[in-house]
Amino acid sequence: MLTTHYLVIGSGVAGLTFAIKIAEKFPDRTVTMVTKGDEDESNTKYAQGGVAVVLDAQEDSFQKHIQDTLTVGDGLCDRSVVEMVIKEGPKRFDELIHWGAHFDVDAEGNYDLGKEGGHSENRVVHHRDITGHEVERALLMRVHQLENVALLPHHFAIDLITEHHLKLPNIRQLTCYGAYVLREKTGEVLAIRAQNTILASGGIGRVYGHTTNPDVATGDGIAMAYRATAHIKDMEFIQFHPTALYEPEAGTSFLISEAVRGFGAYLRDKKGHRFMPDYDGRAELASRDIVSQCIDKELKKTGDNHVFLDCTHLESKAFMAHFPNIYEKCQAMHIDVARDWIPVVPASHYVCGGVVIDKSGRTTINNLFACGECSRTGLHGANRLASNSLLEALVYAHNIFRHLSEESTEGMPVEIPEWNDEGTRITKEHVLLGHNLKELQALMRNYVGIVRSNDRLTKAVAKLNVIHSEVEALYRTSKVNTTLCELRNMVNVAHLIIGQSLARHENRGGYNNIDNIRKPK
Ligand code: FAD
Ligand code: SIN
Repeated sequence: MLTTHYLVIGSGVAGLTFAIKIAEKFPDRTVTMVTKGDEDESNTKYAQGGVAVVLDAQEDSFQKHIQDTLTVGDGLCDRSVVEMVIKEGPKRFDELIHWGAHFDVDAEGNYDLGKEGGHSENRVVHHRDITGHEVERALLMRVHQLENVALLPHHFAIDLITEHHLKLPNIRQLTCYGAYVLREKTGEVLAIRAQNTILASGGIGRVYGHTTNPDVATGDGIAMAYRATAHIKDMEFIQFHPTALYEPEAGTSFLISEAVRGFGAYLRDKKGHRFMPDYDGRAELASRDIVSQCIDKELKKTGDNHVFLDCTHLESKAFMAHFPNIYEKCQAMHIDVARDWIPVVPASHYVCGGVVIDKSGRTTINNLFACGECSRTGLHGANRLASNSLLEALVYAHNIFRHLSEESTEGMPVEIPEWNDEGTRITKEHVLLGHNLKELQALMRNYVGIVRSNDRLTKAVAKLNVIHSEVEALYRTSKVNTTLCELRNMVNVAHLIIGQSLARHENRGGYNNIDNIRKPK
């Protein structure tokens, strides 16, 4: 057994920020970070557009950013959370700079502020089109300087430890005592005992197969918290990014940042018609729920597989300077953005819901906190405003730090049992796992996509139940491995998305069911 003051699950922006802050303030306390892949593999690493933060006192204001967030959230944001997050933004951004992250500046040395859908002003700070890579680099560099942080890559958190594992009966208010973690190299399962556990395990994109997210985004933290009976909310609000590069065979699709539309690119159908102005006065810069739904309508109307993003009228040198990564990726696909339109299609991108937390990052389980994409704060409501996610992760990592700074670390928690895998054996059913994963992803794409219906959702439940029984049977009889645990988690997440979709009887933001009416605001 390993004992630590703080167990952090995940090494994206949320987990790293918390770890740095708490370790800097309390050098005598230990922080153990587990992360299931390489240390930098995360949604954070692939963030392109940037961080939405009010820095331009002339044109912008907190009030405008607050209003944009509320409008895009379509009536379901928690206003006090929105105000808190946005007002904290500049302070949290300054900390990123202090830790060594670089953001682009213009000729006068002011931050170069980009624009994205739903924003009324230019307010997105960025590092070219690889903002997440830069943020992850800077945070990892700082974490490695801190002697009281142990960062353990290729360590997969399987389950949270609560009274359930201690076999204590009739506990109404559960406490988290750490987690069971699979050390992938040896196959051994560690019991990590922690005074406080921070879930920072990111998103769920891979549940849909076709996604902008990397392979690690399998919703593990949300599934673990759900199994431990934490409150999970808003899972029906899956955000589909309108412009993933169309690659017919790809699961993870390369993103063409919304900032490209902020830079002036147009969406066209194959005949060249620029269709977004037909739907919304903000055209390509309507919020992404609207743009994705319009593309979906166009595709259904025409039977095409994709639409196009036209950048040919844009100043190509400026485009290359701002979006070198996108430019290079297109070049590699034989798309010359100065001459050719880029084929794009919506893909699952972000989950607005997750583990319910309060303003201090507390979940409904004692000593269990959550921040970043796995959490549900109330900031996004029915749809997230572009580039509010990195901001949210920074603010909530700080809030958890602030809360825990005031808590005593006296007395370690109770003894926890070692992992028990008696009666299980190494599974040889890898083919079955792959088969179930494909079925799950197809079911989510076809029955639980951008536009849903009660009939499809009900069919999805029946199909999911079959996959669920097979996966649970395998889990009960097998020695754990990452593939099996991820699949089990994705099944749990799918269950949450479908169940919470069926429970929503009005259309809002990213939730669109043909059997529902839109409730007036
Ligand atoms: P992540 O960065 O995803 O980190 C999660 C970590 O948890 C990873 O290290 C993962 O390996 C680990 N983990 C997961 N499960 C386990 C487990 N069982 N055991 C151990 N470790 C585990 N947002 C913006 O605000 N601006 C943008 O410009 C932007 N662009 C984006 C572009 C792309 C292509 C994508 C995919 C997302 C983008 N987003 C953007 C969203 C944003 O990047 C994420 O919401 C944010 O980075 C999430 O940070 P996080 O720390 O919560 O999770
Ligand atoms: C993008 O660059 O388009 C992604 C921004 C985001 O998801 O917030």
